[in-house]
Amino acid sequence: MPTRETIHSVFNRDEVFEFLKPEIPPSLDLSHGVILYLEGINVSFDGFKAINDLNLYIDDGELRCIIGPNGAGKTTMMDIITGKTQPDSGSAWFGQKINLLKLDEPAIAHAGIGRKFQKPTVFENHTVHDNLELAMAGNKNIYTTLTAKLHSEDQDRIADTLNLIGLRDQPYASAGSLSHGQKQWLEIGMLLMQNPKLLLIDEPVAGMTHQEMDRTAELLTNLAGEHSVVVVEHDMDFIRSIARKVSVLHQGSILAEGTMDEVQNNQKVIEVYLGE
Ligand SMILES: Nc1ncnc2c1ncn2[C@@H]1O[C@H](COP(=O)(O)OP(=O)(O)O)[C@@H](O)[C@H]1O
Ligand SMILES: [Mg+2]
Repeated sequence: MPTRETIHSVFNRDEVFEFLKPEIPPSLDLSHGVILYLEGINVSFDGFKAINDLNLYIDDGELRCIIGPNGAGKTTMMDIITGKTQPDSGSAWFGQKINLLKLDEPAIAHAGIGRKFQKPTVFENHTVHDNLELAMAGNKNIYTTLTAKLHSEDQDRIADTLNLIGLRDQPYASAGSLSHGQKQWLEIGMLLMQNPKLLLIDEPVAGMTHQEMDRTAELLTNLAGEHSVVVVEHDMDFIRSIARKVSVLHQGSILAEGTMDEVQNNQKVIEVYLGE
């Protein structure tokens, strides 16, 4: 494990991660400064309204936190954005021109929306480096990928990613030997290798130590700006440490939105959630 000091120097935005600047797909029109529009979204499961007239707007480069009690619809909202669940009504746009409801899951990932699920899904028997390389290659043949020589530009991207996720000192460690927190960072690195512009991250700090949570806060803060990041999380201390704008989801709709202080002092929020 690297020491705290090295972590602070590796999660350092001042180094320019030139190769990690996401390429903006030509069809992604961010001219209005908004990367995601969800409007009037409704989803029912067997008559139960999981999402109820949901409106959500995410700015380009924003780091947005979404909180809300269990069953509020947070994961379902991500399922809609990534094409896993088709809503009954409403609209979902990625920038001005990409209609998400007309694309399937692979097409949405290809358009530049990356999702990290709660449980890390790294290739345990491969090294950290090879996990990143495999993620960059996408669906190409694993054997060909790991035996072919990497272009120097790809090597640079992997090196930049290792830096960003705090694993530059152990590129040849097997992923299975990493701590839970390091696996989560590796998976974020794997997502980044696919060049997403918008990252959706579901409960990143569940099961992490306090120190790992601090580093994760740093990592996500560093990603915002070049990327837009939507984080769903239950841990209030963690949210407080990264929060800029917070949205509270309750019974499938936005109950309140604002700074952490604003939502914490909102009477409706206190009743349904924080006062629990
Ligand atoms: N595929 C599904 N089929 C039936 N009900 C579902 C399905 N997915 C989610 N739900 C229900 O929708 C509600 C919202 O779930 P979810 O989005 O997972 O909430 P959260 O992530 O905020 O805890 C819950 O009541 C859940 O049981
Ligand atoms: Mg959930």
